[in-house]
Amino acid sequence: MSATGSPGPAVEPFGPERLEAAAELLAARHRRDRGHEPALDEHHTTHAACLALLRQAWEDGARGAVALRGGAVAGYLLARTGEGQRGRHCWTRPEDAAYAPDEGPVVLQRLYTELSGPWVEDGRLHHYTVTPAADLSCWLGLGFAHEQVHALLTVPGGAGEDRPPSGVRRAVPSDIDALEPLVGLINAAHAAPPVFAFTDQPMWDILRSGHLELLSDPEVAYWIAEGSGAVDAFLVMRPVPVEESSLVKPRGSVELLLASTAPHARRSGAATRLTRWALADAARRGFTVCASDWRAANPLSSVFWPRRGFRPAAYRLHRILDPRLTGPEHVPGP
Ligand SMILES: CC(C)(COP(=O)(O)OP(=O)(O)OC[C@H]1O[C@@H](n2cnc3c(N)ncnc32)[C@H](O)[C@@H]1OP(=O)(O)O)[C@@H](O)C(=O)NCCC(=O)NCCS
Repeated sequence: MSATGSPGPAVEPFGPERLEAAAELLAARHRRDRGHEPALDEHHTTHAACLALLRQAWEDGARGAVALRGGAVAGYLLARTGEGQRGRHCWTRPEDAAYAPDEGPVVLQRLYTELSGPWVEDGRLHHYTVTPAADLSCWLGLGFAHEQVHALLTVPGGAGEDRPPSGVRRAVPSDIDALEPLVGLINAAHAAPPVFAFTDQPMWDILRSGHLELLSDPEVAYWIAEGSGAVDAFLVMRPVPVEESSLVKPRGSVELLLASTAPHARRSGAATRLTRWALADAARRGFTVCASDWRAANPLSSVFWPRRGFRPAAYRLHRILDPRLTGPEHVPGP
């Protein structure tokens, strides 16, 4: 039975003829989400913008199922397959799932029930979904768990300080050696308990070149706080390129991309000072919304960023199924 008490909708494979109707549901969902979080991009409240996103999803290989009631689309769920660093997986992006408001999120659960069997048969034991905050409980009820928090902050306006606080300056490429002890701190925090994010050698190998690229990019504001002869902390702000804007990352926003404080300087206010200054600088450059994201299980960042004013707008959730399910020990029936 559906949320409305009537028999559940029929489910069939999602085909391109459903893109128009799916875009209607997605635009309505985004209008709902903007009601909760006005910093989300207005652009995606329109059918045309959502249709473009879904056409791209289809072209990118997102596939799944559609729920139909009386011939009308009551919901859809798509996923993209992949493997490698994220394990053999299925990944549902924010545009890949929506439901008719009068059906309720139970439609997504019905679609997941239909799709997840073949995913597991295909050895895809890692299931990821990026869901708007309003639909979180539907996925938690299916056994998904928090992995990443996607958040937005309204950049404080008004005339703040017009020069950085003492010890804070914009870094340049020649600072890379002084930054070297800090560039691996985020990887280290993610690889360590209680986050336990799988971290392979290439993720360490790209750190120096990645930071050098950011330091060399005139669009990027790479701020550092210096103490007694060393870098205490860094914080990187980057305008969101239009091709990276999304349902959770508004066009024209700035992204707080990376930040770390060296262990010796933690809890002395370095990251708070850098954040305050970087946001004041972003306001002067005309930005009104700042996006950021962090690992939900990172005990430092998951407390720090909400305290700085970031509001969760969406979550990346992860469900890992028991590897024994695909082996001979698992007996699904007599
Ligand atoms: C998250 C992180 C950047 C915070 O950096 P930090 O420089 O220690 O942060 P601050 O010192 O500015 O603030 C930390 C806390 O100490 C408090 N604090 C600030 N000055 C203080 C002082 N003099 N004495 C005691 N506490 C102080 C702050 O108020 C803040 O608490 P709050 O969030 O409850 O308000 C840092 O822990 C870190 O680098 N972690 C590892 C890497 C990482 O996870 N990066 C984030 C990836 S998203």
